[in-house]
Amino acid sequence: MWKILCLLNVLCACGSFQQISNDLKKVQYQYVVEKWLNDVDSDLSHFNSLAAHLTWKLSTDPDEKTLWQARQLGKARNRWKNKVCESTIRTDWTTPEQRRKIYLMCRGPKFGDQMVLEYLEVLGKLSEEYNSEVCLEGRPVKVNESAPNFPEEGDCLYGEPDLERIMKRTDLDPEQLKWIWLNWHDSVGPRVKVPFRVAVEYQNLAARSNGYDDIGAVWREELETPDLEKFVFDLYEEIQPLYVMLHAVVRHKLYQKYGPSHIDPKGPIPVHLLGNMWGQDWVSLLELFSVSSANINLNEKLQNKNLTVKDMVLEAEDFYTSLRLPEMTDKFWKFSIFEENENTTLCHGTAADLYSRDDFRMLMCGKVNMEDFYIIHHEMGHIEYYMAYQEQPAVFQDGTTTAFHESIGDAVMHGVMTPQHLHRLSLLTDNQLIDNNTELYLLFYQALSKIPEIPFSLIIDKYRWEIFRDNVPYDKWNEYYWHLNKKYRGIVPPENRSGRYFDAGAKFHIPDNTPYIRYFLSSILQVQIFKSLCELTLYGSVASSYEDSDLPLHKCDIYGSKNAGKKLLAMMEKGSSIPWPEALSIISETPQISTKPFLEYYKPIYTWLKKYIESNDVYVGW
Ligand SMILES: *[C@@H]1O[C@H](CO)[C@@H](O)[C@H](O)[C@H]1NC(C)=O
Ligand SMILES: *[C@@H]1O[C@H](CO)[C@@H](O)[C@H](O)[C@H]1NC(C)=O
Ligand SMILES: *[C@@H]1O[C@H](CO)[C@@H](O)[C@H](O)[C@H]1NC(C)=O
Ligand SMILES: *[C@@H]1O[C@H](CO)[C@@H](O)[C@H](O)[C@H]1NC(C)=O
Ligand SMILES: *[C@@H]1O[C@H](CO)[C@@H](O)[C@H](O)[C@H]1NC(C)=O
Ligand SMILES: [Zn+2]
Repeated sequence: MWKILCLLNVLCACGSFQQISNDLKKVQYQYVVEKWLNDVDSDLSHFNSLAAHLTWKLSTDPDEKTLWQARQLGKARNRWKNKVCESTIRTDWTTPEQRRKIYLMCRGPKFGDQMVLEYLEVLGKLSEEYNSEVCLEGRPVKVNESAPNFPEEGDCLYGEPDLERIMKRTDLDPEQLKWIWLNWHDSVGPRVKVPFRVAVEYQNLAARSNGYDDIGAVWREELETPDLEKFVFDLYEEIQPLYVMLHAVVRHKLYQKYGPSHIDPKGPIPVHLLGNMWGQDWVSLLELFSVSSANINLNEKLQNKNLTVKDMVLEAEDFYTSLRLPEMTDKFWKFSIFEENENTTLCHGTAADLYSRDDFRMLMCGKVNMEDFYIIHHEMGHIEYYMAYQEQPAVFQDGTTTAFHESIGDAVMHGVMTPQHLHRLSLLTDNQLIDNNTELYLLFYQALSKIPEIPFSLIIDKYRWEIFRDNVPYDKWNEYYWHLNKKYRGIVPPENRSGRYFDAGAKFHIPDNTPYIRYFLSSILQVQIFKSLCELTLYGSVASSYEDSDLPLHKCDIYGSKNAGKKLLAMMEKGSSIPWPEALSIISETPQISTKPFLEYYKPIYTWLKKYIESNDVYVGW
């Protein structure tokens, strides 16, 4: 900043300052600010790149030295940011772009020098606890003797991917599922509870020293939506009827499978029966829905093709390049990790931007199945975004919001999940392609994985917003978590959970301290973007009236569409240089987030559920 003042002083000193017209002064000022911002941006780029390399090393081959370096870098970066943001800039004299750069760079919590180190240590502790093994205690009350490969007392396993995978199995006795669920939650929750509380305190202090009420306000600000909290709950109201019907039918099916001793046909569903550790994705329950006459088992199909995980990555790349989006780089193929090896400590799928030309990487502990095929497309969507905005200044090398970043791969995946494309991948036979039950089956696949995620992603952050506001007493944290689960999701724990536990802490993003409402918005946005891609494919523009078409959205095959890819790229290239309504306007007819495409996509499911509920006299609600 001193450079700016200096230059203005020189202007003053030469006596001509008064004569310089206001406009000229402004231009001068903007020029100086521009030079200063360029320097700041190049520092930022340097920090980003260093941090990304250290993070990658920590995820793939960690050691104490790297951990120490990462914290030192965090401290240096924090000090640098504080210094940059202390500069006083005459905002009325700067350009809108300059203002946006400064805004993006300087928003957020403001940590002191010492505090940031302590905070980073707590985050390290949280991640260590989540990623360490759990040694199973006790025994399940009842087991399915013929179910193979079930762990025993004393076996030590990771939450991700080991226990998470077990929770998806449908051949186990409910008591076995409950045992796994309890072991994971009893072990990890209490271990992360105290460090989580400490992390909240640090973040709240840092947020308040930059003028925010608490860290939740910082998190919400990133999405650049006025009154985000009301906004998301209003959106949820539009989707809730569909969720509640799906919930009712799934409960009915589970009741038929497990009987009254495990399921109350009019009550909430115990979480361990939903085929997922957190009950956020019910696709494992697909077999309960006999909607397909032909036997479509996509996992089996993938496995019978003898593909490797890398082959699935190549298939995903083929879809993106068919839209004329860039292919993955040499460094991607050289450095990415697709399958578990002895060094991987992080099995949560990740797409990394190393902030140096052409260096983008994927990290996952993949297996050959549909879920990982989906994760590959999701992560590759992030990478396409990274590549698209790499020409932007460092401060704009980001999604227009994180919700958009999360949406790209999933929007594309809607195109993959069409009968035509799966047939192209030879995952459907010719007969299955023309069988009209196939599309319903695929749509159920989508519905079971996407619809339950919506109330889940809503409460994961509602929960933290209230904790950040200090509205929930510490000894009521767990109670409040299950209160929200029951109210919005109709889901309960396997047994009464006392206040000692911290069940939310058993979900990756809580100890990882990653905001979650982005996934809520993404669930809606991704279908909106997919619909635009579909219109671009069919008509070459988004202004056409798709409503006139009799092609249902869920059958829209966007593979190979140059038009769709072009607009998607145009949106992504902007990075965070424009706010999201502007970005959305590039690809969509309206600059608003709307649930309409989502509800349209699932219309056949809605109709099916309604009919099922009426003809089986199923109770709806809980
Ligand atoms: C028990 O396991 C076997 C083998 O995996 C499976 O076929 C069977 O359906 C399971 N039984 C129950 C009640 O889930
Ligand atoms: C997959 O591998 C098995 C065993 O090696 C072989 O029998 C089968 O023909 C292969 N399938 C394909 C589609 O290559
Ligand atoms: C695991 O880490 C060791 C030590 O850094 C290294 O020599 C080895 O190549 C790594 N293995 C894999 C599969 O990356
Ligand atoms: C499938 O399509 C045929 C021919 O259009 C139709 O007669 C039949 O009712 C359809 N079945 C379902 C389940 O929609
Ligand atoms: C759960 O336990 C608490 C405290 O022991 C008790 O007050 C509450 O009634 C119990 N809830 C249920 C549903 O059993
Ligand atoms: Zn993601």
